[in-house]
This record gives sequence, C-alpha cells and structure tokens, in this order.
Amino acid sequence: MLNIALPKGRLGDQVYALLAGAGYDCHEAFDDSRKLVFESKAAGVRYFLVKPSDVAIYVEHGAADIGIVGKDILLESGADVYELLDLGLGRCRMCVAGKNDYVEDTDRTLRVATKFVNIAKRYYSEIGREIEIIKLNGSIELAPILGLSDVIVDIVESGKTLRENKLCVLTEIFPISARFIANRASYKFKGGAIDEMLSKLSAAISKEERV
Ligand code: PRP
Repeated sequence: MLNIALPKGRLGDQVYALLAGAGYDCHEAFDDSRKLVFESKAAGVRYFLVKPSDVAIYVEHGAADIGIVGKDILLESGADVYELLDLGLGRCRMCVAGKNDYVEDTDRTLRVATKFVNIAKRYYSEIGREIEIIKLNGSIELAPILGLSDVIVDIVESGKTLRENKLCVLTEIFPISARFIANRASYKFKGGAIDEMLSKLSAAISKEERV
C-alpha cells in the first residue's frame, strides 16, 4: 500500500485526476464528505487530504510515503525528503514586491513582511542585505499598503492581487511548480511501486500537455 499526501485544493484535485486516470483511483474519493482518508486495496493506494503547507511534514516523518507539494513549501520547510519529479503544475513565482512608487533606502534595515520566513531570510542573507522580518499568515499585500513593511516576499501567480493593490514585482527570487516527493526510507522499501507511479504520472502529464 502506498500512502500519499495530497494537498487539499485545486492542485491536489488535478494530481488525483491524473493518478485516477492512470489506475490509482479510489471510487469514493473526493465526494462531498469530510473524510480525510481514502483508500483502494485493489489499486494499492491510500490518499490523505492534508493542508498544502503540511504535505512535506507528513512525508518527512513517514506518515505518508509520497506527496505532492509546491517548491515554495518544500524550500520553506527544509524537509529532508527525496524530490523525484517536477510535475510542471501549479506554476507561479516567489517574488519581492512593493508599492508601485517604492524607492529603497539602502541606509535603513529593510522591513520584509512574509509567510515565507526562511526563504526571505536566506535570500536577503545571500545578497547581504540587513532585514527585519514581519511574519504574517495571509493577505501579505496589506503590509506595504499600511506601512507595516517596506516590501513583501510572496507568491505571484497571475499578478492580479499585486495590480489591484497598486503593488509591483521588484525582484523575482525563483520559479515555483509542484514537486513529487518521497520519504527516504519508503523509497528504499517501496521504490518499485513509487517508480511505477512516477512513470505513469509523468506519462499522464505529457499526454495532457500534448492535448
Ligand atoms: C496567494 C499569494 C498572493 C496571491 C497571488 O495568496 O499570497 O496573495 O495568492 O495570486 P495572484 O498573483 O494570482 O493574484 P492566497 O490566495 O494563498 O491567500 P493568502 O492571502 O491567505 O496568502
């Protein structure tokens, strides 16, 4: 049995649809119930629906053998797992953003609001800029508008949230997409089953890209 942590939401739905099409379906999955575990003995899979930001934790601790997680969450968590495939889904960018008329004062400590504390700290330490982190949990774009921070480090997908709040991208830090990850011990003991799932998943993704 392969234990799979799927992120709740659109990305998880997309990945589940691909896996179900490749023979890993659970007939009862994704109905309107509040159940969080779905399994199919016949297909040899058990799905857990987890909060996207928790996927890497389940996999690192072996509660799930594999998982699907955004590169942003993977880097932020620093989880010790195998990253086996870039699914090319859920594409977006990690960016520094600020007000449209923002001008940096390099003599002052930069105030950075973000959910991604580790990513922000690493980025600014690499470029040698002194910062103060303001950790928020959502609606990050409000911080520069209200003067709580100078800039934000956040995900930009369509760019709509920034535009509608008169903010803009100042620097792109790295591109993001969904990754297939595996627990290190699981990959040792269930490597055959995981590799088979990986190849079926990549085949389903390339087929979808061709359509
Ligand atoms: C994310 C991110 C941005 C927005 C970017 O927020 O933090 O706010 O999406 O998307 P866009 O470029 O397509 O506008 P999310 O919806 O996860 O909500 P949050 O404010 O709770 O972080």
